[in-house]
Amino acid sequence: MNRSHLLQQLIPASAKRFVGVRRERKSLAAAPTVPHRSDNLRPADGVDLAGMLVSQEADRLWRDSQEILGRFAIPDGTGGVNPGDRRAVHYLIGGFKPLSVLEVGTHIGASTLHVAAALRASPRAGARLVTVDIADVNDAGKKPWLAYGAASSPRDMIEQAGCGDLVEFVHDTSLNYARTCGSRFDFIFLDGGHRAETVYGEIPVALELLEPGGVILLHDYFPDLKPLWSNGVVIPGPYLAVHRLVSEGLDARVLPLGALPWPTKENSRVTSLALLLRDG
Ligand SMILES: C[S@@+](CC[C@H](N)C(=O)[O-])C[C@H]1O[C@@H](n2cnc3c(N)ncnc32)[C@H](O)[C@@H]1O
Repeated sequence: MNRSHLLQQLIPASAKRFVGVRRERKSLAAAPTVPHRSDNLRPADGVDLAGMLVSQEADRLWRDSQEILGRFAIPDGTGGVNPGDRRAVHYLIGGFKPLSVLEVGTHIGASTLHVAAALRASPRAGARLVTVDIADVNDAGKKPWLAYGAASSPRDMIEQAGCGDLVEFVHDTSLNYARTCGSRFDFIFLDGGHRAETVYGEIPVALELLEPGGVILLHDYFPDLKPLWSNGVVIPGPYLAVHRLVSEGLDARVLPLGALPWPTKENSRVTSLALLLRDG
């Protein structure tokens, strides 16, 4: 272990949180105001989130997907969403039944595979998933997935899962893709850049891309900037971005998924997944 790594370990989590939140607040405050609209966002009042996570139909779809998902040993703790969150994503796709899904942040394809499997479990004509990453996650030369402990590229995994016809991989920034895609989506999962100013820029753009009644799913949302696990870590960006947008008049409410019916990380059932819905 080198010296700076050792020093990092000696700094208490609360001090790192304090510094991280202050830095994020400062850079977010410097970001120019972004206009927003929430008329296409699904109203929170009609959403039975708890029901979706215990639905027998969603359980059945999850069991059906095991034949596919069980083929892959997706690593945990290397930047992909944790296994409990992957399952939650599958249940949400099963519950909301979107025809079109946009994922920002492909990385090793952990969530990509689970969205695709959920779409495949209840097949509908025209169903599709577009997954965007600023990095070339399928680069056949550099094979970036190997450094994260994954055996296959996200694209190979999707092909092996028989979901190739459902998924489009895009190597681009979220904002550039949004500007140029000419598509709209029923369900948008934001798990790309986590800096507050990045998420502050992405949410209004995602709102523009939503089909009527669409939903946005956030990852790494820490309500009130409190740690969710015993590691004391807080990723402030998504919370601060939503907080600023709401303070600027965005008609939205966040529904954190909270505790799931199955394990997630650090021996808990707690997830940082949260839905962004209209406040009504
Ligand atoms: C936390 S990882 C996503 C994990 C992924 N959902 C999974 O389960 O494997 C975040 C990813 O977002 C990508 N990213 C960061 N900023 C981005 C941006 N502005 N536009 C698109 N992708 C971005 C990173 O390259 C990284 O691969």
